[in-house]
Amino acid sequence: MSATADRDPKDIVYVNGSFLPRAQARVSVEDRGFVFGDGVYEVLRAINGKLFAARFHNQRLERSLDGVRIALEGDHSPARFVEIGRQLLKENNLLKGQATLYMQVTRGATIRAHNFPPPDVAPTVYISVARFTPYTDLAESGASAITQPDLRWARCDLKTLNLLPNVLASQTAKERGAFEAMLIRDGVVTEGTKTNFFGVVNGSLRTHPCDSHILPGITRSVLRDLARDLKIELDETPIKVSEIPKLSELFLTGTTTDVMPIVKLDDKPVGKGRPGELTRKLQRVLAESLASGGD
Ligand code: PDD
Repeated sequence: MSATADRDPKDIVYVNGSFLPRAQARVSVEDRGFVFGDGVYEVLRAINGKLFAARFHNQRLERSLDGVRIALEGDHSPARFVEIGRQLLKENNLLKGQATLYMQVTRGATIRAHNFPPPDVAPTVYISVARFTPYTDLAESGASAITQPDLRWARCDLKTLNLLPNVLASQTAKERGAFEAMLIRDGVVTEGTKTNFFGVVNGSLRTHPCDSHILPGITRSVLRDLARDLKIELDETPIKVSEIPKLSELFLTGTTTDVMPIVKLDDKPVGKGRPGELTRKLQRVLAESLASGGD
């Protein structure tokens, strides 16, 4: 029923210039990612060895790095990370089937102090891949979600390692038997803990605009373009909590989620309590785009 990132004990990861077995990979206990959550990351999807929308993930990684003022030097650049990712897919026998690629950059390892380390401290770069099984059954039946307060900071547009509010809300969802928690800030739905969302209210497809309160999801943007090609208009006016009972369709989007219909929100059916027509249509076009390798 669930998507998994299966781990091979012999798998090869990349850390700071070296390809080595995961069990031998080491990062300092003084790493600022560990001590402060001081870093950024990306998650990409690979299908038969092809990284989906790699160009957009690169751009977002660069934007996140700029946003938190981590400068990469020498051999390291987001474009190079994608090459390393391809190498890892090969080394781990993941050129066939589905996989995820995780890349993380932190501000490096140094004596704990809040301000930035001296310029000679290099960022830590970690990249790994894992086999991935999509949520096929749940995507067919539809999943449930709950709402939770959005307790995150004011730069949710940066994909940083500071995920504690996401972790807590996600765990609450799991404990309540729900697939995802949809976050509420200032009376509107912003996004999920690891997904963006789209909803249909009075016949129009709505989502939260790309501002500093949400992550500009790659799947969200691919889907927006696919919807445009189908002449489906997208209204980026946030959905208010008071509009939730009017939702006739609701779905989540994300690299590891694709288009996931939400048929129950806070224990109440969404629309007819089954995946809606528009959801199904967009699910299909995203699946086609993924199968064809995207960009
Ligand atoms: N999360 N919103 C948040 C807060 C996310 O963390 C993610 C992705 C998304 C969807 O973005 P995209 O379509 O680019 O995957 C939206 C990744 C998958 C994760 O943290 O594992």
